[in-house]
Amino acid sequence: MERTDFDHHRTPIFSFLQDYLEKDITPFFVPGHKHGRGLKEFSDFVGSRILGMDITSLPESDNLANPIGIIKESQELLADAFGAENAYFLVNGTSEGVQVMIRSAVKPGEQIIIPRNAHKSTVGGLILSGAVPVYVYPEMNAELGISTVVDSSTIKEIFKKHPFAKAVFVINPTYYGMVSDIKTIVRTAHREGAVVLVDEAHGAHMGFHDDFPLTGMEVGADMSAASLHKTGGSLTQSSVLLLRGARIPQENVKQTLNLTRTTSPSYILMASLDVARKQLALWGDELLEETLELARYARREINEIEGLYAFDHNLSGTSGIYDLDETKLAIYVGKLGVTGFALERELMTRFGIGLELADLNNVLALITIGDTKQSVDKLINALKTIVQERGTHDVKKLIELPEMPDLIVSPRDAYYGTKKKVLLEEAAGEICGEMLMAYPPGIPLICPGERLTQDVVDYVKVLKEQHASLQGTADPYVNYIRVLGHDY
Ligand SMILES: Cc1ncc(COP(=O)(O)O)c(C=O)c1O
Repeated sequence: MERTDFDHHRTPIFSFLQDYLEKDITPFFVPGHKHGRGLKEFSDFVGSRILGMDITSLPESDNLANPIGIIKESQELLADAFGAENAYFLVNGTSEGVQVMIRSAVKPGEQIIIPRNAHKSTVGGLILSGAVPVYVYPEMNAELGISTVVDSSTIKEIFKKHPFAKAVFVINPTYYGMVSDIKTIVRTAHREGAVVLVDEAHGAHMGFHDDFPLTGMEVGADMSAASLHKTGGSLTQSSVLLLRGARIPQENVKQTLNLTRTTSPSYILMASLDVARKQLALWGDELLEETLELARYARREINEIEGLYAFDHNLSGTSGIYDLDETKLAIYVGKLGVTGFALERELMTRFGIGLELADLNNVLALITIGDTKQSVDKLINALKTIVQERGTHDVKKLIELPEMPDLIVSPRDAYYGTKKKVLLEEAAGEICGEMLMAYPPGIPLICPGERLTQDVVDYVKVLKEQHASLQGTADPYVNYIRVLGHDY
């Protein structure tokens, strides 16, 4: 990031909380646990200091809904660190950011160009905003059994059919670390008079070291939402929303945020954003250099193990992939004769190693600034042991990734439409009233308003057999799905 006059040693919210603890205030305000005394068992376990820091807006501590004090200063530092003009704390993750981006940029009935493999939070954004999705379909890598990214040429083409689209939504990078040519997408969209909204849930670290793919802010996108809690070091749920330029008025963003967010934001979360930003702004380059070295080391070692393939730069230039974030250590396991789900379970139960994600053919380990040579070696050694025991096998795919279904009515109309409950296995041909996905990655296999296909039903059956974590339907066991129509 460019050097500026901001003093990134400053941590306005974290420093406020440190001073607050020193003052020994007697609280007659919420939270009602009153510095942990009303939650003794918990406080005794985690330590009283963290509960002492658990305050919300006080006259001295500024207010997230209308920042004019320490939150304002802290958000300005955040904006500077990320190369944005404005930054907004998110205390409900990037899911909140994705929805606010869509709702502040696209009005009901207006079109947004959106990759069909976007996260489920986009569906919420579409339902809440009334924006009409123009889905664009990502490229597929049949061998790895995953969808990748949308090629920039697809975005150019789609504007020919939908010249009045108001926004383009970009995932940068995907869960597996793949990115599109976002620079070209931004140029195309702006030329067509559309704004660019970037989901950087998995890319909060990317702007702090030159070896990562470019971020939305770096290439002039209008908004971006980044999960600092995933790869930037802050606490779970804390993310940032970034804004640049005048295409989306900052007044809209502030007011949209205030429509749905809590009036009691956690200062612990915001203080963690303060410290994570300081760390990235001052030492991000060094920290991420070490992270990259670990990721490269792990990738080299894993690619030496016969039967495994850790995704690498050989994928760049194939199936729409423009570049890769090397810290996403995605590993193809199809030659081991097990699914990614089974390998994930084995790593957890036998070796105490937890992965970020598994699918039928791959697993994903995230390497972050919190990793060490020891943690990475533990993973490599466990993989070596498993592969030695299992040997390699001919690839037998359980099932192909299904084609993405056709959109029949808008997600919002489907959400509000009258529904009936049907057995999933009998639902092919029906128009869905809810979504269904494996989580993670949280990419809906079916979205509200789409026609359910037999291929999706069959795929879900295989996911169930593999004990994948499924969600999205009202039925927690995903035996039933709600589709459009009346109950008899
Ligand atoms: C691509 C993508 N976007 C958005 C989100 C939502 O992020 P958060 O968990 O910070 O709400 C996720 C979560 O995994 C994601 O994978």
